[in-house]
Amino acid sequence: MSTISSATSSNLDLDSKRLQVKHLLDPKDSNTPDGTDVIQGLTKTPKSIPPRYFYDDRGSLFFEQICELPEYYPTRTEAAILEQYAREIANSTGACELVELGSGSSTKTRLLLSAYESLGYPLSYVPIDVSAGILQESAKRLLLDYTSLQVCGLVATYERALEQLAPSTLGKRTIFFLGSTLGNLTQLECDRFFARVKAALAPGDYFLLGIDLQKPINILEPAYNDSQGVTAAFNLNMLQHLNWRFQGNFDLSLFEHRAFYNQSEAQIEMHLVSKRSHSVSLDRLDLTVNFEEGETILTEISRKFDLQQMEKYLQTQGLKPVRIWTDPKQWFGLVLSQMH
Ligand code: AVJ
Repeated sequence: MSTISSATSSNLDLDSKRLQVKHLLDPKDSNTPDGTDVIQGLTKTPKSIPPRYFYDDRGSLFFEQICELPEYYPTRTEAAILEQYAREIANSTGACELVELGSGSSTKTRLLLSAYESLGYPLSYVPIDVSAGILQESAKRLLLDYTSLQVCGLVATYERALEQLAPSTLGKRTIFFLGSTLGNLTQLECDRFFARVKAALAPGDYFLLGIDLQKPINILEPAYNDSQGVTAAFNLNMLQHLNWRFQGNFDLSLFEHRAFYNQSEAQIEMHLVSKRSHSVSLDRLDLTVNFEEGETILTEISRKFDLQQMEKYLQTQGLKPVRIWTDPKQWFGLVLSQMH
């Protein structure tokens, strides 16, 4: 079983059978509809850019930094819940293939992998992320620490990955979607997302969802306006990413970060505000965009949920909630549901 005794990268090479990464997102492939979502978002009023464009390799690193910020409570709160209950989760699902949507650095994943490992279950992990760099790096580090682990990563959007998932290697499958990334989706996008999730699950399979819960505005707003300016840098980096990917000329110094809680929609909104009237072009998209002074681009919504409503919603989606875990302050929730 344990083929890696001392953790070196050459040992890893010998063991590369345990790591596969497939790319379903190729920026050089002109057949992929990449960029049509950017054109759509920047040619309507008000303007928007899909949040997935935060996560180039640099953006993923900024996000890692956000997770460590004193003001950003979601990551550590969810991690604390996982630390306490990972074993219960593993016990509830039994041995299964673990598919993670938006795996990033896979830090919280370790808590789950360790729980499945300690119950003697085989470890098969399918991380899915739009950032190839962070996916590769974290998969390699996982292989060093979990010697029986098989990783089959997909560099892709959730939509494409869910469409193209091969049948589970271990019979049963659990898809997990942590960190409240679901909060980035509008209700309509959410409905479409669940249709895809269900298509990737068989009856009896599981879905583990991590959601940020509604709480006072004086806790919510600082989490997206940190004193070190990391969230601002993360937000502005999206423009740099578009410059690189689509040969654009966004001038980052002409935009500023704005984030606030929209009470009636129960969502944080992040914007980039144009400091003056100017225009920007994205050559690879054949697109020129005019900005007024004070005009904003919506870069992200981050919805804050109510656990009871989410339970009902999952139910209507054909996913039966089986267990719920939360922290003492009820700031964050984990819902395990099972496909009918
Ligand atoms: C990864 C989407 C859950 O909405 O809190 C963090 C991203 N944006 N700070 C969130 C984010 C600004 C995060 N999600």
